[in-house]
Amino acid sequence: MITKHDLNPNLLRAEYAVRGPIVQRAQKLEAQGRKIIYCNIGNPQALKQKPLTYFRQVLALLEYPELLKKPEIATTFPRDLVERAKKILELHPHGTGAYSQSPGVPFIRQAVADFIARRDGIPADQDHIVLTDGASKGAQAVLTALIRGNGHGFMIPIPQYPLYSATIALFGGRQIGYFLDEERRWQLDEHILNESIERARREGTRPVGIVVINPGNPTGAVLSLENVRMVIGFARRNGLSIIADEVYQENVYDKGEQFYSFARVMHEMGERTVPLFSLHSVSKGFLGECGHRGGYLEFRNIPQDVLGEFIKLQSISLCANLVGQFATYLMVAPPEPGDESYPVFQKEKSAVLSSLKRKAEILGEGIQKIEGMHLDIPRGAMYAFVRFELPPERGVVISEMAPEERRAYEAKRDTEYCMALLEQTGICVVPGSGFGQKAGTLHFRTTFLPPQDEIEDFVTQLRTFHEQYVRELEEV
Ligand SMILES: Cc1ncc(COP(=O)(O)O)c(C=O)c1O
Repeated sequence: MITKHDLNPNLLRAEYAVRGPIVQRAQKLEAQGRKIIYCNIGNPQALKQKPLTYFRQVLALLEYPELLKKPEIATTFPRDLVERAKKILELHPHGTGAYSQSPGVPFIRQAVADFIARRDGIPADQDHIVLTDGASKGAQAVLTALIRGNGHGFMIPIPQYPLYSATIALFGGRQIGYFLDEERRWQLDEHILNESIERARREGTRPVGIVVINPGNPTGAVLSLENVRMVIGFARRNGLSIIADEVYQENVYDKGEQFYSFARVMHEMGERTVPLFSLHSVSKGFLGECGHRGGYLEFRNIPQDVLGEFIKLQSISLCANLVGQFATYLMVAPPEPGDESYPVFQKEKSAVLSSLKRKAEILGEGIQKIEGMHLDIPRGAMYAFVRFELPPERGVVISEMAPEERRAYEAKRDTEYCMALLEQTGICVVPGSGFGQKAGTLHFRTTFLPPQDEIEDFVTQLRTFHEQYVRELEEV
């Protein structure tokens, strides 16, 4: 029989915390009838966020064009929406059941290019766009292509979204972590970047790229213009490619913050050498269409022959799924003012975004009042990375531990904390060690996606749990 020893050791090494042992335990408890508040993953529609009507109506017509022949459609669906579905099927007569060209349906790639040009006021080219099964596949394509062997390393933020650490492990690359600066709202720090790349080189790693997640997961941070510029300069000086993971670009809640795409900032800086791979997705924003697996990868400063290799890579798995491609199309080309469907679309979009903003505030303000917990109100994305303090354990001298020993000890502490939180309250969050955290600190990551009353409940229960947990540790 096959055993784990027969598997690729890179697969065995890869870890993916957001679906790890705590979530598995939560599922068991749920099967036994316990109510679980799932705050472990950014999966909005699993947490009762409603899909936008416009999207589902168009997708329904595309999946089953026979509906277009039914007279009731004219009275149940807005006119512009029906026209839209017909137009899409005219431009792509094969519908959803046939493969498309490997980089994706041409008119959709053109719509993505138009979206980028509109969003950023810069030129964009459909031939530099590949439609993907979610942003994850885009990131994995870039890492597949750029990691040439064990000596190659990718810089990734700490804390990070574990897609990156897991995929680097899977492809046999090395992870070069750089800390985000919690004291400065989780921005990137040039000094930290320099230190981390120099250490990696001393250890024999060849850095080839840097991943930046903006707005951030798990931090909820939005990077300033200066920060984005700084990273581009850093990448140029160090010969790095950039993966700009911008899946949360619509999720910016703080009025003082703005999303700056790497594509725009690079263009404005006149940067023509740093290779840029930008990712976007239908999973986040106000759509939350995670199950539809749609997204795109845009290439800048990539020569034609290299681009050809990426298209070849995409062609190895034929093409992205078609419903996901159409969902991406609707994301980049939504209804416009004047369309019959626009008012409902706009109302539903604003309702999702304003509810997320409100929930971020409730969570942030509530947690700030808990003694021993620290959190800035999240400014973007869908997450909060909450720092918490626990009393030291008797007989444990952290300062005498080797770094690896200390990491393992702190991972055990935050995991035990999150497991106890789950067992006692039904709240499912992810230990900070799954994302990486500075030595001497403990965190957990939570989403603020559940309905508002559950977030309120979450804060109350968390407070009672934390006070009790700390008291028990002090009594030991
Ligand atoms: C930063 C980041 N990138 C990518 C993804 C994956 O997105 P997709 O569903 O488009 O693969 C996620 C999902 O949570 C994410 O947080």
